[in-house]
Amino acid sequence: MSRKNFGAKPIMLPQPVLIIGTYDENGVPNAMNAAWGITTDFQEITISLSEHKTTDNLAARGAFTVSMATEDQVIPCDYVGIESGRKVPNKFEVAGFHASKSEFVDAPLIDELPMALECKVKSFNDGILIGEIVNVSADESVITDGNVDLKKLRPIAFDPCNNKYVKLGDAVGDAFSCGKKLKG
Ligand SMILES: Cc1cc2nc3c(=O)[nH]c(=O)nc-3n(C[C@H](O)[C@H](O)[C@H](O)COP(=O)(O)O)c2cc1C
Repeated sequence: MSRKNFGAKPIMLPQPVLIIGTYDENGVPNAMNAAWGITTDFQEITISLSEHKTTDNLAARGAFTVSMATEDQVIPCDYVGIESGRKVPNKFEVAGFHASKSEFVDAPLIDELPMALECKVKSFNDGILIGEIVNVSADESVITDGNVDLKKLRPIAFDPCNNKYVKLGDAVGDAFSCGKKLKG
């Protein structure tokens, strides 16, 4: 084994590509890309956020959605990560996204991204957003036998080593199960 040291970097593999949907104080939808996020409890998501139009909106509305970026929407999903709603107020529209209000929280679902978490802001301190997951919804088009089907949803991951979006592959094992072979 010969390891190369990369120093202190914010790298995990894979990282998610989360698209945060919010409304501003006038009800205009916005979306931003966030890769530094993870679920931190059964009903909790935590995302590392700098100051953005999105954080203005979180303060105004106290709610957000987190959609999974998908292969077919990679261009708009990247766009919302490199343009700000502070500069382009109709950024959501330019991305080609259409908003439907969540039934559960005061935030927009993105019609073009079929699976999302619907969240209320629990706290936003020192650049760390903690949200309560109130609901998870997915369009029927990405569901098989009652569960979200990754082959249909085709979510993408972020590769922070090479600044690429990558697609996910085939299942290689049954979770909470395949390791049983090694148990005494
Ligand atoms: C792949 C990718 C991942 C990103 N991850 C984050 C993140 O985790 N946290 C963050 O604050 N900004 C992140 N950004 C930057 C924001 O998406 C970007 O600043 C965006 O313009 C903010 O939009 P807004 O001002 O309309 O809210 C990311 C951008 C890209 C392209």
